[in-house]
Amino acid sequence: MNAVHLMSARLPAALLVLALFCGNAAVADAPAAQAPPDTRGLFEPIRSVIQHPRCLNCHVADGRPRQYDDSRVHSQNVQGGPDGRGMPGLPCSTCHQSANAPATAGPNAPPGAPNWHLAPKEMVWVDVSARDACLRLRDPGSNGGKDFAQLLHHFAEDKLVAWGWQPGGGRSTPPLTQAQTAAAVEAWIDAGAPCPAG
Ligand code: HEC
Ligand code: HEC
Repeated sequence: MNAVHLMSARLPAALLVLALFCGNAAVADAPAAQAPPDTRGLFEPIRSVIQHPRCLNCHVADGRPRQYDDSRVHSQNVQGGPDGRGMPGLPCSTCHQSANAPATAGPNAPPGAPNWHLAPKEMVWVDVSARDACLRLRDPGSNGGKDFAQLLHHFAEDKLVAWGWQPGGGRSTPPLTQAQTAAAVEAWIDAGAPCPAG
């Protein structure tokens, strides 16, 4: 066999190997290219925190704060009034100070944090679906005009938010720590703040 014969015998085999290799690579890549990773689950850890009673109980749409782990309506028919700070004659600050009552005051003493008041009604998390909570949270039109950086900062630094993890009186706390929550919010934002299906 001369050199020309050798070439012609081997070239098709080489092409076949090349074609198989490229074909396999294309097949292996195809699913990743067609279906990006499903990131809608990234909101669930955040939902589990914001719909925990320590967070939920101020995030109402009807002006009535909630209490306890069953989120019953606040005792004495307390109302947020026009600015969420209570009705004339009975502001939140009558009972809620800028810090929790001392442990010696007992488990049912009013908790406290700076600027204690109800969240604006568009920030409602009571009785809303995960999708609705997610859409509201990421929209500056319903989250107090916050961009993503400000939203993350709010979760990580805000004093009312921080109270949820130091509620005093033996009250339960959200399923993630504040640091874990901030990390979950950051991961969600990094993925484009995807929301679960309705
Ligand atoms: C004592 C009432 C109160 C509690 C308890 C509370 N919040 Fe809020 N929250 C507010 C108020 C008032 C605002 C609006 C203030 C602002 O926008 O600066 C707010 C706003 C927010 C916002 C920004 C706007 C938005 O999109 O809703 C986030 C995020 C938030 N709260 C998270 C939490 C988390 C997480 C917890 C529990 C760990 C919590 N809050 C518990 C009163 C409360
Ligand atoms: C007359 C006193 C009084 C007034 C006024 C009052 N509260 Fe309370 N609040 C309490 C007491 C006491 C508790 C603690 C109840 C317990 O844990 O047994 C409490 C608890 C709460 C809690 C904690 C619920 C939980 O379990 O997570 C929230 C939230 C709350 N109040 C919001 C408000 C807001 C907002 C206002 C004003 C619009 C307000 N309160 C006005 C006495 C008051």
